[in-house]
Amino acid sequence: MGSLLVDNIGELVTNDGRGGDPLGVRRDAALLIEDGQVAWVGPARYPPAADRRIDAGGAAVLPGFVDSHAHLVFAGDRAAEFAARMAGEPYTGGGIRTTVGATRAASDDDLRAAVRRLRAEMLRQGTTTVEIKSGYGLTVADEARSLRIAAEFTEDTTFLGAHVVPAEYADRPDDYVGLVCGPMLAAAAPYARWVDVFCERGAFDVDHARAILACGQAAGLGVRVHANQLGPGPGVQLGVELGAASVDHCTHLSDADVDALAGSTTTEWLSGPPTNTVATLLPGAEFSTRSPYPDARRLLDAGVTVALATDCNPGSSYTSSMPFCVALAVREMRMTPAEAVWAATAGGAAALRRTDVGRLTPGSRADLVILDAPTYLHLAYRPGVPLIRQVLHNGVPR
Ligand code: NIG
Ligand code: FE
Repeated sequence: MGSLLVDNIGELVTNDGRGGDPLGVRRDAALLIEDGQVAWVGPARYPPAADRRIDAGGAAVLPGFVDSHAHLVFAGDRAAEFAARMAGEPYTGGGIRTTVGATRAASDDDLRAAVRRLRAEMLRQGTTTVEIKSGYGLTVADEARSLRIAAEFTEDTTFLGAHVVPAEYADRPDDYVGLVCGPMLAAAAPYARWVDVFCERGAFDVDHARAILACGQAAGLGVRVHANQLGPGPGVQLGVELGAASVDHCTHLSDADVDALAGSTTTEWLSGPPTNTVATLLPGAEFSTRSPYPDARRLLDAGVTVALATDCNPGSSYTSSMPFCVALAVREMRMTPAEAVWAATAGGAAALRRTDVGRLTPGSRADLVILDAPTYLHLAYRPGVPLIRQVLHNGVPR
């Protein structure tokens, strides 16, 4: 495949974590790609020899976005539910069952085509790594096939059989938890890296959530939790207790929740495997449910590692756009542009416990975005504008 030099980079975000600047910004830089990986980063005036060259024209270059929370395996949409919400209806999560019905009725090929369309949409907007959850099947066969299809698109697949209790188990939730921990997990685990539970009033209580996450862990899966989205609750502290890689949403947090997350924090992941629990914020969900945004400032000031993700799903957040989430985080959650860009790249990688993506340093995957802008600041400064000029995934221009 030969070597590829990206040069004439006006501003390069490396996330190398050195020199007190988390973004590791370099000016007038160049970057060499070999075998799909970053081989060298340095000043543009001393470029190494390469077989091919891309001239960034003085633009900003940053790591491809790492979208660590997405529900892409589903059929149908819920535009009417969104319209009703904008007319004053509250979001309860009750619509999940509508999507479950449509997903069960869809063919494998229809589901695969739907994931392919959303994955392509994400790539065009700069997302080069995505986590994909099941959770709209909720039978043994439908959860297994959702994950089998998800695994065709990503290594980061998440078993979310505990999304809601499906209608046919409505009056016997204990039996459903038994199904999730037993035959459903057995069928899902070969295709899953992670296990997740929607721990919320109306979904799964803390005892059920703990039981399901512990079964998943025993089957070799890493833990993530949908926590504290619709109200205060035990999800965040449960996640920290179980060593979750990430607790997601974090919209309603007590001081004890913030302390638990801060107590889990380590920065060792930049050099070795990360061990802390990341708080993944999903501002697309607050936007689309017209809810108050999580308090990112409070988490950052407490020293918690924060990630941003889309939560792309047909109910609470039907956006695939990480640039949109960055802009929301800056405008609505009082993150600085630098914090938001870090959270959407390195933060997402930390939430997936990955050290090969979310940064542009020698040895990392050559996943990068060339902006139609001189600086990453424009991602928040110019919201809604298509600023992604070119995406390289595994070193290959897309
Ligand atoms: O992350 N909170 C639970 N699950 C999704 C919403 C799913 C849906 O409404 O279909 C979420 O927001
Ligand atoms: Fe979600």
